[in-house]
Amino acid sequence: MRTLFCFLTRSYKADGGWKQSAFLSPHSMQRRVRCRRSDVCKEERSYYITTPIFYVNASPHLGHLYSAILADCMHRYKLLRGFKSRFATGTDEHGLKIQQAANAAGEAPLTFCTGVSQRFRQLFGSCNVSFTDYIRTTEERHRRSVEHFWCTLYDKGFIYKGNYEGWYSMPDESFLTPAQVADAVDASGQAIKVSLESGHKVEWLKEENYMFRLSAFRTPLLDWLHKNPGAIQPERFLQDVLQWLQDDLPDLSVSRQRSRLQWGIPVPGDSEHTIYVWLDALVNYLTVVGYPDNHNHWWSVARHIVGKDILKFHAIYWPSFLLGVGLPPPQSIHVHSHWTVNGTKMSKSLGNVVDPFERSQAFTTDGLRYFLLRQGVPDSDCDYADHKVTNVLNTELADSLGGLLNRCTAPALNLTQTYPPFCPLFFPIERDGRAVPEDYHLLGTVRNLPTLVERHYESLHVYKALEAIASCVRQTNGFVQRHTPWKLNRMDSGDQRWLDTIIHVTLECLRIYGTLLQPVVPRVADKLLSRLGVRADERKWSDLDFLPSYSGKDCRFQGRTLGPDTGVLFNRLENPTGDEQKTKKIKKQAIISRQFT
Ligand code: MSP
Repeated sequence: MRTLFCFLTRSYKADGGWKQSAFLSPHSMQRRVRCRRSDVCKEERSYYITTPIFYVNASPHLGHLYSAILADCMHRYKLLRGFKSRFATGTDEHGLKIQQAANAAGEAPLTFCTGVSQRFRQLFGSCNVSFTDYIRTTEERHRRSVEHFWCTLYDKGFIYKGNYEGWYSMPDESFLTPAQVADAVDASGQAIKVSLESGHKVEWLKEENYMFRLSAFRTPLLDWLHKNPGAIQPERFLQDVLQWLQDDLPDLSVSRQRSRLQWGIPVPGDSEHTIYVWLDALVNYLTVVGYPDNHNHWWSVARHIVGKDILKFHAIYWPSFLLGVGLPPPQSIHVHSHWTVNGTKMSKSLGNVVDPFERSQAFTTDGLRYFLLRQGVPDSDCDYADHKVTNVLNTELADSLGGLLNRCTAPALNLTQTYPPFCPLFFPIERDGRAVPEDYHLLGTVRNLPTLVERHYESLHVYKALEAIASCVRQTNGFVQRHTPWKLNRMDSGDQRWLDTIIHVTLECLRIYGTLLQPVVPRVADKLLSRLGVRADERKWSDLDFLPSYSGKDCRFQGRTLGPDTGVLFNRLENPTGDEQKTKKIKKQAIISRQFT
């Protein structure tokens, strides 16, 4: 542990030696070590999560929304847990491809960027993505931050002027070694070279520019990963990074000639060069937290969410830049895979891009959020299809969860429209009441659910958390079904008390599910909890004490009047939209056209 923190307090010098930096004083070092030992430490209760900043050369698509929703879910979860949380997102607006997209649109680059950046903001607004910071790399505060970062690297001897000659992929804004390039032919039959990883065409670049001493960071990076095994998650992506680190790292070109690229931040003191767009973009994570002033607190709790295609930039370049300026690498990098359509990568040229605006209207914002987080698996790609969304939402949100809420709040069963009393005689700890073994099993499962969900949220396996909740909802429906409360005789006081107990247990289960679901489906969860009469200040993680009456404790909800009935929790989606409808439409058109030919 001590070595680890010592590591964080030193920066790497260009001449190969370690230099003490001001990042953590010995005093704050001690404090951090102590915090690790006790769970109640103010400093440890801060959280800073980021999404990648999105290129503005095209409109937002479903994959972008997924990154943002995943981060939003983590931010909301941490707030529920009482953390001070920051959530940053934004747009990446410099670089050749943005310059070209603006030209193609016939607009000035900044006007073009403002328009698309606004689209991202709109999407996030309409999908309840509750970011606390939105950054655009064309902002003045970012330029100052990048300039300071560059000058620090330069002053420390990590940037030097040299000659770069090699392959460059413009769509990926990425430099490639010969081993990362393959032969191919383009649409017109011309022989070209492409990037093995992305398939994009590459060009040979030869120019004088500024180089970053990436080669000096192979060992420090290996040290960092060795001492922080959770730094890159999931594990399979850590293995990819370790694989890349088996070979020497070539120095990295970090500028482009101004004559080729004007749309970017000029190199400080040398306006003939523009700073490489990835260096510029990565620094956004620091700009947000105030770099170069007062950034240490938030920076020390930073976590990044990134798609698998940009892992190398985040796991190799970024930590090296940071170590170079004397800052620690981020606490963790969480990698997710991609959304495909019919097994194919979404791309504008293939015309298979799923429009998140359209889809969130068709399925509701919470519907789309639920589907993406329920089906999105970090380790492997997920295939999107409208009929899958319809199935998942109808089964889990409309029928299972909505049906359960409806059952125990409908006036036919819940005459008094209250949270009725729990009667220990019928559901005693000693097991000689009316409850059967499966009911005790249900209680145990729901009691353990918050811990399980917590574990899955913490590791960003949101789909596992949702799977666990969905399974509990199914079991709770089974509980109600098993005891057929609608058949009980209200005139019989025993039956009435057992009926109240069944409803009480079910409402308690629903309260737990609603509270746990807030980070994923904030609107649906709010509707559910409001119907149960759970106040806004009773929905935190610390309120997850399930069924206190069972163990003889007071239940503050017992006897409370339910909230107003504002309609069904989640409307069934009767007709599949999108692809199935499109297929039907295409088939119909084909038949019509056959009839007329
Ligand atoms: N601008 C860079 C990131 C700079 S961060 C300092 C970039 N932008 S991007 O717009 O191309 O991609 C942003 C994010 O969206 C990346 O994490 C990328 O992996 C993710 N996705 C792009 N297509 C995706 C899918 N089809 N599915 C899931 N996520 C996808 O890269």
